[in-house]
Amino acid sequence: MIITCKISEVRELVRKWRSEGHTIGLVPTMGYLHEGHASLVDKAVAMCGRVIASDFVNPTQFAPGEDLESYPRDFDRDCRLLEEHGCHAVFHPDVSEMYSPGYATYVEILSDMPKQLCGRTRPIHFRGVCTVVSKLFNIVTPDKAFFGEKDAQQLAIIRRMTEDMSYGIEIIGCPIVREADGLAKSSRNTYLSPKERKAALILSRSIFLGRKMADSGETDALKITDAMRKLIESEPLARIDYVSAVNGTTMEPVREAVKGTLIAIAVYIGKTRLIDNFTV
Ligand code: PAF
Repeated sequence: MIITCKISEVRELVRKWRSEGHTIGLVPTMGYLHEGHASLVDKAVAMCGRVIASDFVNPTQFAPGEDLESYPRDFDRDCRLLEEHGCHAVFHPDVSEMYSPGYATYVEILSDMPKQLCGRTRPIHFRGVCTVVSKLFNIVTPDKAFFGEKDAQQLAIIRRMTEDMSYGIEIIGCPIVREADGLAKSSRNTYLSPKERKAALILSRSIFLGRKMADSGETDALKITDAMRKLIESEPLARIDYVSAVNGTTMEPVREAVKGTLIAIAVYIGKTRLIDNFTV
């Protein structure tokens, strides 16, 4: 596997791969990889001749006071996982390679879409995500890019941005990967103490409850989210940020849970904010 920290080397590599006739897949990550990321790489390897992952903790998507400094990092372990899953290259730039002194340009969706759900407590987050993903798209120029459905709002926003900016890149969403007991895989799960790890199961339990209600024909979104909310409130270590039903494409709040409705939650377990969701 090729490891590079330089934009110019990525461009050179991609030029070579294209001249050899390969389609190119990009798997953007912030590192500290787990089986969720591995599933993105597996899908990319199955669908593309050459796959490059990016491993970059992007500072512009963290607000002051969020976990930028403490965000877990282990590049050697990431490389081992990527190589085991057949990834061909990893791009691991310094912050200065991505954001040169005087950096002043951002990509931002101006509708309410990034203001809903996570955007309510993280107002600059999606501007940072769109900016870095847009830069990665310009650097790698992939045919396809792979993102997890756990970050459902991020995925919807990236689809919108890709369409609006005419990138001509196919965005592939990949299903949530869960631990055996149901907890959605996340790099942030490492912040949880053993007691919190147990308490965090309330997220997936509420998702399974909501899904069961929708599957048995309940279409009143409020009834579903109220039942999920009540269950989460029964866990003393949990504090709800949101339990919401929105249109899965636009992120607009909805009252009816119909096919394509996204039911999404964000819950603090102690100081750790975790997210989970399902689509009706
Ligand atoms: O989902 C993530 O890990 C990040 O938000 C992304 C898409 C790699 C951008 O930094």
